[in-house]
Amino acid sequence: MQPDTPSTGAAPAPSDRSAAPHDPIVDLRAVVKDYATGAGAVRALDGIELRIRAGELVAVVGRSGCGKSTLLNVMTGIDRATDGEVRVAGLDLRAASEDDLARWRGRHVGIVFQFFQLIPTLTVAENVMLPMDFAGRGTLRDRKARAAELLAMVEMSDQADRLPLATSGGQQQRIAIARALANDPSVVVADEPTGNLDSATAEQVFGIFGGLADAGRTVVLVTHDAELAGRAPRVVHLADGKVLSDVGGRADG
Ligand SMILES: Nc1ncnc2c1ncn2[C@@H]1O[C@H](COP(=O)(O)OP(=O)(O)OP(=O)(O)O)[C@@H](O)[C@H]1O
Ligand SMILES: [Mg+2]
Repeated sequence: MQPDTPSTGAAPAPSDRSAAPHDPIVDLRAVVKDYATGAGAVRALDGIELRIRAGELVAVVGRSGCGKSTLLNVMTGIDRATDGEVRVAGLDLRAASEDDLARWRGRHVGIVFQFFQLIPTLTVAENVMLPMDFAGRGTLRDRKARAAELLAMVEMSDQADRLPLATSGGQQQRIAIARALANDPSVVVADEPTGNLDSATAEQVFGIFGGLADAGRTVVLVTHDAELAGRAPRVVHLADGKVLSDVGGRADG
């Protein structure tokens, strides 16, 4: 389990693997998600079993509509599971109140959205500072320093004072990653983070996620890119809301 104290705010430091928790940080059991629609219920997740340990990099693949985004949404508490158990970073998400979920998410989870969702009227640096502002983290000076560190990590220091729309798609993706890391989350999820990028930029972004996992973060990456997915240490293949295959994870789950 992650310590509940704010971190010192440095860029990801190498973790001591021997000190890594042995409980899975993501623990999904028999998870079902139904959506109500005019045409009746749609079962988006149908008995998902998935346990992920701290420091794993997991690619989630599968055809359009198989439940990938729903899985991320259930894991991050954006959507509530209909049935089953969902425990992530120490919280029982199904039992938690909306307030608990929001607080927990702000502290433990970083979400990289497919279309970035940067605030166009804030500068690049201000976008990265926003989650820290919401969490009331440190002084303004601390927040600025941390934003600068994160932007350096994604090689965006020289764009810090621009508006997001004055940067390229790949640069916006890297800003979105920096923002997702603002509060030093233990779990980072990304939905098609390379979907809008050319292959060289996709490569670079994938490399950033690999570095996060090496630094002890748990990273769950949804991707259509079979080539990139194939390079993740663990690949979970979904079909019709079920885990069709789960290859490469550490065998002690
Ligand atoms: N809000 C919703 N209301 C009703 N049905 C939904 C909703 N969200 C998703 N679904 C349905 O649940 C299933 C899984 O959708 P999901 O978005 O998780 O798929 P996905 O694997 O992310 O697909 P894609 O690769 O196209 O993004 C689909 O059948 C979809 O139509
Ligand atoms: Mg999706």
